[in-house]
Amino acid sequence: MADLRWGIIGPGRIAPRLVRALSQSRRGELVAVASRDADRATAFAAQHGIGRSYGSYDALLDDAEVDVVYVALPNHLHAKWTVKALHAGKHVLCEKPLATSVDAVDEIITTSERTGRTAVEGFMFLHHPQTILALELARSGALGRLELLSGTFSFFLTNPIDPRISPEMGGGSLWDVGCYPVSFSRRLAGEEPERLNAFARFDERGVDRTFIGQLLFAGGLLAQFDCGFAAPDRERMEIVGSDATLVLDAPFLPAPDGPPPSVTMWRGREATPIEVASVDQYHEEVEDLMSVILDGRAPRLDLASSRGNVATLVALDQAARDNVAMASAQDAS
Ligand SMILES: NC(=O)c1ccc[n+]([C@@H]2O[C@H](COP(=O)([O-])OP(=O)(O)OC[C@H]3O[C@@H](n4cnc5c(N)ncnc54)[C@H](OP(=O)(O)O)[C@@H]3O)[C@@H](O)[C@H]2O)c1
Repeated sequence: MADLRWGIIGPGRIAPRLVRALSQSRRGELVAVASRDADRATAFAAQHGIGRSYGSYDALLDDAEVDVVYVALPNHLHAKWTVKALHAGKHVLCEKPLATSVDAVDEIITTSERTGRTAVEGFMFLHHPQTILALELARSGALGRLELLSGTFSFFLTNPIDPRISPEMGGGSLWDVGCYPVSFSRRLAGEEPERLNAFARFDERGVDRTFIGQLLFAGGLLAQFDCGFAAPDRERMEIVGSDATLVLDAPFLPAPDGPPPSVTMWRGREATPIEVASVDQYHEEVEDLMSVILDGRAPRLDLASSRGNVATLVALDQAARDNVAMASAQDAS
């Protein structure tokens, strides 16, 4: 038997990646899945060979044989079900963003401390060797003095009832994909931004479809990113130093879910590809959490850092809304 038994709540688009990740694990085993709809849970369990299925999330939390819960729900439900799972004595891997407000992250932190259970945010790209290598190289001085970080993540989202464009469900491209370059930037800077600014194109329901943001860190690093639901598949991170530039062409969804990982060092016009292993980053993510629980290791992404990311996203969202309001006021005058 595996050391830790997992259950999924929310058998949607992302859940099969967790199935795949655990199928490669020695220490973890997927034993249960829960949906709001019992038939959906049964069908998912049958498709993926999962032993037990439940027609409510609470029923899975009542299952004493589940040690770790994967919260794979729309954004507005992350904090609620993470807190409930912690209270039920479970450890939690919660999809990004951990919450949509800083208060909600604080409740998760307090509950984790009180229950002695671990909660981590599912930023899978932080576990990929290409991210780890890029951050190490940049911090080592191999690029010279760090000047600028630039990131991009976009795709077309056209389904009108998708939770990712629902204002009530924590929708918006900033929360869905902009959170990745923001996380990358804060990680590299090693601190929270001192100042920031943003502009966005919001739809008629106030959900951003295209977003650009800028972050200034006290240490001097400048970061900028764009993200959106109204442009083709694009993802890229560029770390610009005084001597060299490091380019990641698939920083967030590399193989097996996208193109192979690709890290290139540019010195002037000379490009040197850097060898990097191709792994399933979701597998790395679940192993990281299990070694926190079983071996007492520190998580690669701790709750204080997740809090910083959520705080930055909240501030960026506000900055973009303030800029729209200011522009409208100027138009009216
Ligand atoms: N790390 C990554 O690579 C990655 C990639 C994609 C998404 N994500 C994150 O993972 C989370 C889930 O994304 P997803 O694409 O899997 O979402 P999804 O398919 O739209 O929804 C996941 C599940 O949430 C449940 N749900 C509960 N309340 C709901 C409601 N009011 N409306 C719709 N669904 C509801 C549904 O399951 P039942 O109705 O069956 O209970 C649904 O299948 C999001 O927070 C997203 O940001 C992460």
